[in-house]
Amino acid sequence: MPTIADRLKNVSISASAAMTQRARELAAQGIKVVSMSSGEPDFPTPAHAIEAAHAAALAGDTKYPTMDGTPAMKAAIVRKFKRENNLDYEPSQIVVSGGGKQVIFNAILATCNPGDEVVIPAPSWVSYADIVKFAGGIPVAVPCHEAAGFKLRAEDLEAAITPRTKWLFLNFPNNPTGAACSRADMAAIAEVMLRHPHVWILTDDIYEHLVYDGFEFCTIAEVEPRLYDRVLTMNGVSKAYAMTGWRLGYCGGPKGLIAAISNVNGQNSGGTSTLTQAAAVAALDGPQDLLKERAAIYKIRRDFVLGRLSEIDGIRAHRPEGAFYIFPNISDLIGKTTKGGRKIESDVDFVMGLVEEHHVATVQGAAYGMSPYFRISYATSMEMLKEGCSRIAQYCKDMR
Ligand SMILES: Cc1ncc(COP(=O)(O)O)c(C=O)c1O
Repeated sequence: MPTIADRLKNVSISASAAMTQRARELAAQGIKVVSMSSGEPDFPTPAHAIEAAHAAALAGDTKYPTMDGTPAMKAAIVRKFKRENNLDYEPSQIVVSGGGKQVIFNAILATCNPGDEVVIPAPSWVSYADIVKFAGGIPVAVPCHEAAGFKLRAEDLEAAITPRTKWLFLNFPNNPTGAACSRADMAAIAEVMLRHPHVWILTDDIYEHLVYDGFEFCTIAEVEPRLYDRVLTMNGVSKAYAMTGWRLGYCGGPKGLIAAISNVNGQNSGGTSTLTQAAAVAALDGPQDLLKERAAIYKIRRDFVLGRLSEIDGIRAHRPEGAFYIFPNISDLIGKTTKGGRKIESDVDFVMGLVEEHHVATVQGAAYGMSPYFRISYATSMEMLKEGCSRIAQYCKDMR
């Protein structure tokens, strides 16, 4: 076994992946597990996307792709940014990678020097901090408190920026809180950023289409065009089109930055699968009604879970505007003991007790940088949600 590189020393294994793995192990023992831990749509990929990949394969589109994205894919992305975000990008301002995750990885590797700081509103998706650490950068968490609706307040952002800050990450609708940004919220963030011209902004808009109750999504380069040259707008097909397994993400940004990202992309992959790109072109250019239809279903599920959680003593859940997560507060349960004799001293104890005693998989808030909370994903069937909520209710009711 070779010595493992120092750069991996502080990089952890994703907690949500670890919980999904535990749920699989229990299921393999024949136990009926309710999984509310995975951030993956339970819907199928649209048929027209699958058909496009099939047709591309039959037509011989099976050779090495252009490394930064096929011309057809880039053209579809250019159209998407214009149509949905009112953003003008040229094909030379676009890079396509193997998922949103790889876009972020490439962008950070292309720009972060050791010691560079990256401001990450917390709680946040588990991978951001690890990717920054991988590049030798320093993740700087800015808390987005429950009392502020888990939103990023301008004054907290301002306080986190130093001369060493390289990037600000934005992710609204957010994983894990579901909080989204109104135009006014975004304008306040933009105003801070205008005062700090040395800081770049990476906006992860992967949950763009998952907003409820008429909430309108917005993205920072559109809200404040004066920031356009400092913004990397990232998106992908995983969450919107239920294409997690296809692995395609993309970004639009200023040409110099895009060239650097493209360089990293070309070194760590030979480009994204041609068939995936054909499917993603069909998804972006095809009928978009399914986005609203699916959002309507997610909204029903969100409301159902919120309703059930509100009946449970000890759990307090904020109503999220988007994504498919709820991030309930369990501070009132800390110090209690479960029926199985487990002392709840942290949100890790809470989710471990829940999965081991009632076989419901969720993820501890600590994994996202805020405790004591836990994340519920409602990207699963109503039947599962009903069963999961009943088990959570019983788990909490039995605590002493
Ligand atoms: C906030 C956020 N960004 C990016 C991703 C990764 O997306 P992709 O599947 O396109 O790599 C996820 C997946 O969970 C996510 O929650």
